Amino acid sequence: MKIVIGSDHGGFELKQQLIPFVQGMGHAVFDVGCFSDASIDYPDVAFPLAEAVARGEYDRGIIICGTGIGVSICCNRIGGVRCALCGDVVSAELTRRHNDSNVLALGGRIVGLELAKGIVLAWLTTDFEGGRHQRRIDKIDQWANIS
Ligand code: RB5
Repeated sequence: MKIVIGSDHGGFELKQQLIPFVQGMGHAVFDVGCFSDASIDYPDVAFPLAEAVARGEYDRGIIICGTGIGVSICCNRIGGVRCALCGDVVSAELTRRHNDSNVLALGGRIVGLELAKGIVLAWLTTDFEGGRHQRRIDKIDQWANIS
C-alpha cells in the first residue's frame, strides 16, 4: 500500500522509528514531515495529510503528535477520512474491522516504540468486515453531508 506518514515535533521521534518498520512490511512510505524536532503546529501537517488521503493519493495515513489527540481532531474534520486514535492493539484491529479507518493517529509521548509497532502491524494487516459496519459508515457520511 501507499502510506503517508506525518507528525509534529511531539511525534517526530516515533515517526522516524516507524518509517523503516512500515517499509519493512513492504509498503511504500511517503514522509510529509515534520523533518526535525523543532516546534510546529500540528494542524499544518494533519490537514494536508488527511486531505491527501481523502483525495485517494494514498491508501492510508499515519499521523503522530504528542498525544495523538490534536491530529485526530484535525483529520476527522476532513470528509471521507476516518481517523482512529489508538493506544492499544485491540483497538487498532477493531477500528479496521468495524470503522474501516483510513488514518491512524498515535501519541508519540504516550505509546512506546514496541507498542506502537504492534498497533501499526495490527492496523495495516486487518481487513474491514463490511456488512452492518458499512451501513454505519454510510450514516457517518450522510450526517456529515458528504455522500
Ligand atoms: C505539542 O506540544 C502538543 O500539544 C501536540 O503534539 C499534541 O499533543 C496535541 O494534541
